[in-house]
Amino acid sequence: MQEKALFAISNGLYVLSAKDGDGWAGSLVDAVSQVCAAPCLIMVSCMNTGRTKECIEKSGEFSLSVLPRGVDPFVIANFGYQSSRDVQKWNNVPKAEINGLMYLPDALAKIRARVVNKLVYTGSTVFIAEVVDAFDAKDGEPLTYKEYRDGLKEQVSAAFKAYKAGQAAGKASCPAPEKRWTCKVCGYAYDGDVPFEKLPDDWRCPLCGVGKDMFELQ
Ligand SMILES: Cc1cc2nc3c(=O)[nH]c(=O)nc-3n(C[C@H](O)[C@H](O)[C@H](O)COP(=O)(O)O)c2cc1C
Repeated sequence: MQEKALFAISNGLYVLSAKDGDGWAGSLVDAVSQVCAAPCLIMVSCMNTGRTKECIEKSGEFSLSVLPRGVDPFVIANFGYQSSRDVQKWNNVPKAEINGLMYLPDALAKIRARVVNKLVYTGSTVFIAEVVDAFDAKDGEPLTYKEYRDGLKEQVSAAFKAYKAGQAAGKASCPAPEKRWTCKVCGYAYDGDVPFEKLPDDWRCPLCGVGKDMFELQ
């Protein structure tokens, strides 16, 4: 089978999202299509290993944010290159919660759908879903999967590398927790304005009353 021949089927790119406990899972998908006009049904194909797929199964509904041309490449990396199991992806991008589901505010269009059927295959699960709402359509062009393959992919990889490097640098520069003079008897940690060394010799622990000699730097 020629991959190139299958790539002749045109797809867009979307952020698919579903409720995940107190937060929201989200993943990048291209396998989305309208399959029926009346009733208005769409399908989305989710890899069985994804967290978003699990959350759609649990909640029975999902949102789609249609990506416009010119979208920040990091949005694609954020949702497509890491799992909601490891990262709160929605904390990394602008977001808009609408009736309990999450969307990208600048999406070309927003769609809310309720699952009515599912087909389970070895690698993926196909959800057939009724469109509950399709709204906030903007002027502009939808981003295509072809555009991603034809060059945008490099920018997305670069954005992801920069994000990972930023995370690593953040961790490296994180200051070590400051040591404090702590009472060996009761655990009280001194946090007064006068440096501990300059406290008078008869200073006592305000909690248990032992002297300065019972304190150590921890
Ligand atoms: C360009 C592109 C297209 C993708 N299309 C799909 C898709 O149609 N279905 C799918 O399940 N995953 C697709 N993925 C992979 C998921 O976005 C990726 O596995 C993600 O990390 C899953 O996140 P989750 O575990 O939070 O659900 C695509 C990824 C990229 C980069």
